[in-house]
Amino acid sequence: MLKIIHPYILKHQERFVAELFNLLRIPSISADKSYRQDVFRTADFVKQQLINAGADHVAIMPTAGYPVVYGEKLIDPTKPTVLVYGHYDVQPADPLNLWDSLPFEPQIRDGKIFARGACDDKGQMYMHIKALETLLQTQQLNCNIKFMIEGEEEIGSDNLEKFVQQNTDLLKADVILISDTGIISNDCPSITVGLRGLSYLEVEVTGPKRDLHSGLYGGAVANPINVLCTMIASLKNENNHITIPHFYDDVAELSAEERALMNEAPFVLEDYKKALDIEEVMGEEGYTTLERVAIRPTLDVNGIWGGYIGEGAKTVLPSKAYAKISMRLVPNQSSAKISKLFAAHFKSIAPKSVKVKVTPHHGGEPAVTPTDTKAYKAASKAFECTWGKTPIPMREGGSIPIVNLFERTLGIKTLLMGFGLDEDAIHSPNESFRVENYLKGIETIVQFYKYYSE
Ligand code: BES
Ligand code: MN
Ligand code: MN
Repeated sequence: MLKIIHPYILKHQERFVAELFNLLRIPSISADKSYRQDVFRTADFVKQQLINAGADHVAIMPTAGYPVVYGEKLIDPTKPTVLVYGHYDVQPADPLNLWDSLPFEPQIRDGKIFARGACDDKGQMYMHIKALETLLQTQQLNCNIKFMIEGEEEIGSDNLEKFVQQNTDLLKADVILISDTGIISNDCPSITVGLRGLSYLEVEVTGPKRDLHSGLYGGAVANPINVLCTMIASLKNENNHITIPHFYDDVAELSAEERALMNEAPFVLEDYKKALDIEEVMGEEGYTTLERVAIRPTLDVNGIWGGYIGEGAKTVLPSKAYAKISMRLVPNQSSAKISKLFAAHFKSIAPKSVKVKVTPHHGGEPAVTPTDTKAYKAASKAFECTWGKTPIPMREGGSIPIVNLFERTLGIKTLLMGFGLDEDAIHSPNESFRVENYLKGIETIVQFYKYYSE
């Protein structure tokens, strides 16, 4: 059990949790238009919380999509400035029937907060607002802080590039601080130093112009679902290498030393399999599980549909089949280039009996963050102080498009100081966040500012 020692956090911990609950109750699902009002309401809530915590110039800044909530506490222009980024939108809660309690009615069970967004990223984002409150109420703040909390991260942050470009002065900072990643475990804290990029596309395969009786036509006309499955299956070979020509051209290969080092991170394959209830792992030959999820690109089907999926059976040869396909990218792959390669290849492998349409969704570039910076060192010391252990640097497989964007447009490096655990099940049913990680995270952020402004 992690022990909180900061007196202010100890004293106010119940309120800190209660406030997070109020934030978690608003279903800010950015992917689903029917939640539009709720997403805007969440921005208002975040704005009010920033004001309550003591931030100045708090504003809802519109974009072509959901707004960015901005706030700042500038105490001294000669002191360094930290720009905190987070997101107030969440993933859809589906499949609802697999939740043990309702996704937008947070509940604590076994010391964990269960709710969509508990960890990703409402819980982790809110820690920063409570850290600001703590610093101000205890007169500990010794540098400048800016907040930029967006509402479209889970749908690819498409409007952020323009926002960042239009607000370069406002966003000026010495470092970007983000808590939207995880640590290896509470026994082994880590600091994330790499994220994968993403290409996300939707494919539509059309066979005959209308659904057909599968008895009258079956066997003579292409079934687009069958064809789609065959096409998808051909995208990887027997070694689980991706077969799209030139897919690996830009992949940065790590040195043997770098690979050896990353495989020293604590990882027990048996525990990993047990936690997922799988007999065996599966992935690209020649790489360990740790490497497969951090330094290698992937291709996965996220959803596939078509034909009849209602109750009972219907004998139909469908006209159309669809799939949502994503590729995780590593340095130095480019999301736009990979999307193009995919589209060209996918069309090229389609048999003449079907038509194929490929529609790109969103993307994001991979990122690597430095360890030889004042910010990284301050974060390392902060973890030593609160976790009692030196965190180890670790690359993670998820994506946060803004990290690369900040570096490209503002020239600012990011520090990824996250507090999530694998058990948090982000994007899954029963997402959770340990109360102790939430409170300990606030404390670690407070410590970070102390060391960073020394
Ligand atoms: N917070 C996650 C990304 C993450 C989680 C990175 C854990 C490292 C460790 C973020 O909210 C997310 O889910 N991003 C999306 C990308 C986006 C473009 C849809 C993702 O990775 O699928
Ligand atoms: Mn997130
Ligand atoms: Mn997410």
